[in-house]
Amino acid sequence: MTGKNYKLFLAPVKGITDSLFRRGFVKYFGGVDRAYAPFVKTALEVLPDKLLKDLQPEINGDLVVVPQILSKDKVGIVDGAFKFEALRYTSFNWNLGCPMATSTKKNLGSGLLPFYDEIDSILSYVFTHSPIDISIKTRLGLHSSKDILKLVPVFNRYPIKEVIIHPRTGVKQYGGSVDLEVFGECLSLLKADVIYNGDICSKEDFVNLSEKFPEVSGWMIGRGALKNPLIFEQIKNPQIENDFEKSNGAVHGFHDYLFDGYRERLDGALPVLHKMVTLIEYLKEYLKISDVQYKKIKKSKTLKEYLTNTDVLWK
Ligand SMILES: Cc1cc2nc3c(=O)[nH]c(=O)nc-3n(C[C@H](O)[C@H](O)[C@H](O)COP(=O)(O)O)c2cc1C
Repeated sequence: MTGKNYKLFLAPVKGITDSLFRRGFVKYFGGVDRAYAPFVKTALEVLPDKLLKDLQPEINGDLVVVPQILSKDKVGIVDGAFKFEALRYTSFNWNLGCPMATSTKKNLGSGLLPFYDEIDSILSYVFTHSPIDISIKTRLGLHSSKDILKLVPVFNRYPIKEVIIHPRTGVKQYGGSVDLEVFGECLSLLKADVIYNGDICSKEDFVNLSEKFPEVSGWMIGRGALKNPLIFEQIKNPQIENDFEKSNGAVHGFHDYLFDGYRERLDGALPVLHKMVTLIEYLKEYLKISDVQYKKIKKSKTLKEYLTNTDVLWK
């Protein structure tokens, strides 16, 4: 069963779901209750001010946004917490999920998961000093999902606002299937509210998961929303008709909003082309773009050429 009361969240996707994307997303598509911003990193016990540029509260409009921090430096995390508070955020999210080697080799993101004592010590310090609430976004472990089962008692010692779980290990990156059995164990053992995240790419995926785990407090969608931006609306209003023309109009509006916005924000055509081609790559299936069409769009050298090559998508 789907219904209107589910809490649905847009996942952070670094390089894509920046403030312009988030704002455009809620302008053209409904159903998002909250968005999590991609991570910012601390440096030398400080969260650099320049990283807060994309988190200025006025850019969020009416959308509730939660900033996220990727760090194992407790002093830096608390510095970030005060800076987020100054920007009127009431909570922030701690990233224990990033699977990229650039993070894991420094014991960041999912790379920190095998270090239970270090996580405990960071949480103890941060919970003592942070002026705002803390949530966690985690994977099941780095190499083994045993990590999370060791971490549940640690997490249960702190008043964590919510734990968002992407049920894969870090080394799996995005491959293989999600481990719903271990997710279910975490759900029953964790005191904090639990949010499910991973591989929700259709209304049907959502229905299966929400029937299996009715105790979940919220659902976070990342790549599924990039591939089908109407997914939140489709989950919340199951009776909504699949009107391709109407939805294509919304995707077209969103596309143009991002194109104009990035042209204003970014320096030169190349970074704009990069942003737009990444977007199109996710939308390929939804917009029924053939490989030949996609290759042509990808090869666009100027913004004019890009617009000519994409024009056919909206006809
Ligand atoms: C390109 C890319 C960038 C990501 N950036 C972040 C990030 O900044 N912070 C984070 O917590 N997760 C990040 N993620 C992970 C997603 O938020 C999400 O946990 C993951 O994609 C699984 O959910 P999904 O199957 O709904 O996409 C990223 C994922 C991708 C593919």
